[in-house]
Amino acid sequence: MFKGKVALVTGGTRGIGAAITTLLATEGAHVAAGYSRGKESAGMCQAKLASMGASVSVHQGRVDDPADCARVAQEVLDRFGRVDFLVNNAGITMDKTVRKMTAEDWQTVLSVNLSGAFHMTKALLEHMIERGSGRIVNISSVIGETGNVGQANYAASKAGLFGFSKSLALEMAQRGITVNCVAPGFIGTEMVEAIPKAALEKVIEKIPQRRLGRPEEVARVVRFLLEDDSSYITGAVYSVNGGLDM
Ligand SMILES: NC(=O)c1ccc[n+]([C@@H]2O[C@H](COP(=O)([O-])OP(=O)(O)OC[C@H]3O[C@@H](n4cnc5c(N)ncnc54)[C@H](OP(=O)(O)O)[C@@H]3O)[C@@H](O)[C@H]2O)c1
Repeated sequence: MFKGKVALVTGGTRGIGAAITTLLATEGAHVAAGYSRGKESAGMCQAKLASMGASVSVHQGRVDDPADCARVAQEVLDRFGRVDFLVNNAGITMDKTVRKMTAEDWQTVLSVNLSGAFHMTKALLEHMIERGSGRIVNISSVIGETGNVGQANYAASKAGLFGFSKSLALEMAQRGITVNCVAPGFIGTEMVEAIPKAALEKVIEKIPQRRLGRPEEVARVVRFLLEDDSSYITGAVYSVNGGLDM
């Protein structure tokens, strides 16, 4: 489906990002998967996909550093000549109630989750405009819609992605570039494994389908938004949450 296309997936070697990388690569795209500190998981992800005959390169860089984003984007453009798809997936949590949250806890999460998407988008936007085509998918969260105790910084960053995506979608609407959000609920990755067991059981009780989502279930929606036939979808938010926001 994606033969000849190049995708850049931030945080693309672990969790949801790895599922996105895997799906796009097995559909024929070359995937440039970004990582920050997880060199080992990046190497494992690349080796596994290479053994399946998929085309994946891994690129170290922090999305909260604009210079790193520019360098990674240039690296990918120099090696592969184009970027058709940008998936801003890298994200972190630093959970605390607002009373206990420091200004640094606040800023760190905003810098990675929200500013990171801005920096990486800036690094590739002119290239997409020049080519008159591009797809940007930002991985937000149901928490950006509902809020959550202990996640004011995370919720604000993910809500910010909705506003960022819609604004950019409007600016790019006549330039062949679509911008959409996918908003997962609770998905079984290391991020959710960090939630204490008792608290996680309570979360699952609140999910109408009574289970965590799988990373692959998020990746399918990203793939759908990247398909040629999805060109009329822009400024949209797709939920993948087992009914959590009903
Ligand atoms: N899991 C969920 O339930 C859930 C629900 C809703 C939304 N989401 C969102 O989905 C995305 C992926 O989540 P996940 O559960 O797969 O998380 P994860 O398993 O913790 O993986 C996070 C990824 O982000 C990368 N990353 C972290 N900080 C970075 C930085 N400063 N610069 C570049 N990359 C950085 C990590 O790279 P390293 O490997 O180098 O550390 C890793 O690849 C996040 O945006 C998250 O907010 C997750």
